[in-house]
Amino acid sequence: MPHPDAWIAAALEHQDLLLIDHAQCEKKAASTAMSLMYRYVDRPLLLTKMSQLAREELLHFEQVIKVMETRGVTYRHLSASRYAEGLRRHVRTEDPARLVDILIIGAYIEARSCERFARLIPHLDAELAKFYRSLVKSEGRHFEDYLMLARRYAEEGGDAQVEARIVFFAECEADLINREDSEFRFHSGLPCAA
Ligand SMILES: [Fe+2]
Ligand SMILES: [Fe+2]
Repeated sequence: MPHPDAWIAAALEHQDLLLIDHAQCEKKAASTAMSLMYRYVDRPLLLTKMSQLAREELLHFEQVIKVMETRGVTYRHLSASRYAEGLRRHVRTEDPARLVDILIIGAYIEARSCERFARLIPHLDAELAKFYRSLVKSEGRHFEDYLMLARRYAEEGGDAQVEARIVFFAECEADLINREDSEFRFHSGLPCAA
Protein backbone atom coordinates (compact mmCIF):
# COMPACT_ATOMS: atom_id res chain seq x y z
CA MET A 1 0.00 0.00 0.00
CA PRO A 2 2.44 2.74 -1.00
CA HIS A 3 1.28 6.30 -0.68
CA PRO A 4 2.44 9.46 -2.38
CA ASP A 5 5.60 11.14 -1.12
CA ALA A 6 3.77 14.47 -1.18
CA TRP A 7 2.07 13.49 2.06
CA ILE A 8 5.47 12.91 3.74
CA ALA A 9 6.68 16.35 2.68
CA ALA A 10 3.51 17.95 4.10
CA ALA A 11 3.87 15.98 7.35
CA LEU A 12 7.44 17.17 7.85
CA GLU A 13 6.41 20.73 7.09
CA HIS A 14 3.49 20.59 9.57
CA GLN A 15 4.87 18.54 12.46
CA ASP A 16 2.67 20.38 14.96
CA LEU A 17 -0.47 19.39 13.05
CA LEU A 18 0.88 15.87 12.64
CA LEU A 19 1.26 15.46 16.41
CA ILE A 20 -2.09 17.03 17.28
CA ASP A 21 -3.95 14.90 14.75
CA HIS A 22 -1.99 11.85 15.82
CA ALA A 23 -3.18 12.44 19.40
CA GLN A 24 -6.75 12.73 18.08
CA CYS A 25 -6.40 9.44 16.20
CA GLU A 26 -5.17 7.57 19.27
CA LYS A 27 -8.07 8.92 21.33
CA LYS A 28 -10.55 8.04 18.59
CA ALA A 29 -9.10 4.53 18.25
CA ALA A 30 -9.69 3.94 21.98
CA SER A 31 -13.20 5.33 21.72
CA THR A 32 -14.11 3.14 18.71
CA ALA A 33 -12.88 0.05 20.56
CA MET A 34 -14.95 0.99 23.60
CA SER A 35 -18.09 1.57 21.56
CA LEU A 36 -17.74 -1.98 20.17
CA MET A 37 -17.48 -3.21 23.78
CA TYR A 38 -20.79 -1.55 24.58
CA ARG A 39 -22.62 -2.85 21.53
CA TYR A 40 -21.37 -6.43 21.28
CA VAL A 41 -21.41 -7.65 24.87
CA ASP A 42 -21.98 -11.31 23.99
CA ARG A 43 -18.61 -11.85 22.27
CA PRO A 44 -15.93 -12.49 24.93
CA LEU A 45 -12.95 -12.50 22.55
CA LEU A 46 -14.04 -9.19 21.03
CA LEU A 47 -14.51 -7.70 24.51
CA THR A 48 -11.07 -8.82 25.65
CA LYS A 49 -9.26 -7.72 22.50
CA MET A 50 -11.03 -4.35 22.37
CA SER A 51 -10.40 -3.68 26.05
CA GLN A 52 -6.67 -4.37 25.59
CA LEU A 53 -6.62 -2.29 22.43
CA ALA A 54 -8.40 0.66 24.07
CA ARG A 55 -5.87 0.66 26.90
CA GLU A 56 -2.96 0.59 24.46
CA GLU A 57 -4.42 3.42 22.38
CA LEU A 58 -4.91 5.54 25.50
CA LEU A 59 -1.31 4.87 26.48
CA HIS A 60 -0.24 6.00 22.99
CA PHE A 61 -2.41 9.09 23.48
CA GLU A 62 -0.58 9.90 26.71
CA GLN A 63 2.77 9.38 24.97
CA VAL A 64 1.85 11.78 22.14
CA ILE A 65 0.66 14.38 24.65
CA LYS A 66 4.01 14.10 26.44
CA VAL A 67 5.94 14.59 23.18
CA MET A 68 3.76 17.62 22.38
CA GLU A 69 4.35 19.07 25.82
CA THR A 70 8.13 18.77 25.59
CA ARG A 71 8.05 20.38 22.13
CA GLY A 72 5.74 23.22 23.12
CA VAL A 73 2.93 22.09 20.81
CA THR A 74 -0.47 23.24 22.07
CA TYR A 75 -3.33 20.80 21.72
CA ARG A 76 -6.23 22.42 19.94
CA HIS A 77 -9.34 21.12 18.28
CA LEU A 78 -8.89 19.99 14.68
CA SER A 79 -11.60 18.94 12.28
CA ALA A 80 -11.49 15.25 11.41
CA SER A 81 -10.14 14.26 8.02
CA ARG A 82 -12.62 12.74 5.57
CA TYR A 83 -10.79 9.41 5.74
CA ALA A 84 -12.62 7.51 8.52
CA GLU A 85 -16.01 8.88 7.53
CA GLY A 86 -15.27 8.00 3.90
CA LEU A 87 -14.84 4.39 4.97
CA ARG A 88 -17.66 4.22 7.51
CA ARG A 89 -20.29 5.42 5.06
CA HIS A 90 -20.07 2.00 3.42
CA VAL A 91 -20.83 0.03 6.59
CA ARG A 92 -23.78 -2.33 6.13
CA THR A 93 -26.61 -1.85 8.60
CA GLU A 94 -27.52 -5.39 9.68
CA ASP A 95 -25.41 -7.44 12.07
CA PRO A 96 -23.17 -9.39 11.80
CA ALA A 97 -22.38 -7.59 8.50
CA ARG A 98 -22.16 -4.28 10.36
CA LEU A 99 -19.69 -5.63 12.88
CA VAL A 100 -17.60 -7.30 10.17
CA ASP A 101 -17.39 -4.03 8.20
CA ILE A 102 -16.42 -1.98 11.26
CA LEU A 103 -13.70 -4.50 12.10
CA ILE A 104 -12.33 -4.48 8.54
CA ILE A 105 -12.27 -0.66 8.58
CA GLY A 106 -10.46 -0.81 11.92
CA ALA A 107 -7.87 -3.07 10.32
CA TYR A 108 -7.29 -0.67 7.43
CA ILE A 109 -7.00 2.38 9.68
CA GLU A 110 -4.36 0.53 11.71
CA ALA A 111 -2.54 -0.62 8.57
CA ARG A 112 -2.45 2.88 7.10
CA SER A 113 -1.21 4.28 10.41
CA CYS A 114 1.61 1.71 10.40
CA GLU A 115 2.52 2.55 6.86
CA ARG A 116 2.63 6.29 7.61
CA PHE A 117 4.72 5.83 10.77
CA ALA A 118 7.15 3.60 8.87
CA ARG A 119 7.51 6.07 6.01
CA LEU A 120 8.03 8.99 8.38
CA ILE A 121 10.64 7.32 10.61
CA PRO A 122 13.71 7.86 8.36
CA HIS A 123 12.97 11.61 8.27
CA LEU A 124 12.35 12.18 11.99
CA ASP A 125 14.56 13.13 14.92
CA ALA A 126 15.77 10.26 17.14
CA GLU A 127 13.13 10.70 19.86
CA LEU A 128 10.13 10.72 17.55
CA ALA A 129 11.61 7.98 15.35
CA LYS A 130 11.98 5.71 18.39
CA PHE A 131 8.43 6.40 19.50
CA TYR A 132 7.00 5.77 16.03
CA ARG A 133 8.99 2.54 15.71
CA SER A 134 7.28 1.25 18.85
CA LEU A 135 3.92 2.26 17.39
CA VAL A 136 4.52 0.38 14.13
CA LYS A 137 4.70 -2.79 16.22
CA SER A 138 1.57 -2.25 18.27
CA GLU A 139 -0.60 -0.87 15.44
CA GLY A 140 0.57 -3.82 13.32
CA ARG A 141 -0.71 -6.15 16.00
CA HIS A 142 -4.01 -4.25 16.10
CA PHE A 143 -4.34 -4.66 12.33
CA GLU A 144 -3.99 -8.43 12.69
CA ASP A 145 -6.43 -8.58 15.61
CA TYR A 146 -9.09 -6.62 13.73
CA LEU A 147 -8.83 -8.88 10.68
CA MET A 148 -8.89 -12.02 12.83
CA LEU A 149 -12.05 -10.77 14.59
CA ALA A 150 -13.73 -9.83 11.28
CA ARG A 151 -13.18 -13.36 9.98
CA ARG A 152 -14.32 -14.91 13.24
CA TYR A 153 -17.58 -13.00 13.54
CA ALA A 154 -18.72 -13.33 9.95
CA GLU A 155 -21.86 -15.32 9.35
CA GLU A 156 -21.39 -19.04 9.20
CA GLY A 157 -20.36 -19.94 5.67
CA GLY A 158 -19.69 -16.27 4.95
CA ASP A 159 -15.92 -16.57 4.42
CA ALA A 160 -16.04 -15.56 0.76
CA GLN A 161 -18.16 -12.55 1.64
CA VAL A 162 -15.66 -11.38 4.28
CA GLU A 163 -12.84 -11.68 1.78
CA ALA A 164 -14.91 -9.70 -0.74
CA ARG A 165 -15.49 -6.94 1.84
CA ILE A 166 -11.74 -6.87 2.61
CA VAL A 167 -11.08 -6.25 -1.10
CA PHE A 168 -13.91 -3.70 -1.31
CA PHE A 169 -12.59 -1.65 1.61
CA ALA A 170 -9.02 -1.88 0.27
CA GLU A 171 -10.23 -0.12 -2.86
CA CYS A 172 -12.17 2.54 -0.92
CA GLU A 173 -9.17 3.13 1.30
CA ALA A 174 -6.73 3.48 -1.59
CA ASP A 175 -9.10 5.91 -3.28
CA LEU A 176 -9.34 8.11 -0.16
CA ILE A 177 -5.56 8.18 0.22
CA ASN A 178 -4.90 8.96 -3.43
CA ARG A 179 -7.37 11.81 -3.76
CA GLU A 180 -6.56 15.43 -2.93
CA ASP A 181 -7.30 16.86 0.50
CA SER A 182 -7.46 20.54 1.30
CA GLU A 183 -6.25 20.03 4.87
CA PHE A 184 -3.30 18.06 6.13
CA ARG A 185 -4.13 15.29 8.58
CA PHE A 186 -2.58 11.99 9.68
CA HIS A 187 -4.85 10.11 7.25
CA SER A 188 -5.27 12.79 4.61
CA GLY A 189 -4.77 12.17 0.93
CA LEU A 190 -2.62 14.12 -1.46
CA PRO A 191 -1.97 17.70 -0.39
CA CYS A 192 -3.78 20.19 -2.64
CA ALA A 193 -1.52 22.00 -5.07
CA ALA A 194 -3.30 25.27 -4.20
FE1 LIG B 1 -2.27 3.63 18.73
FE1 LIG C 1 -4.02 0.85 17.06
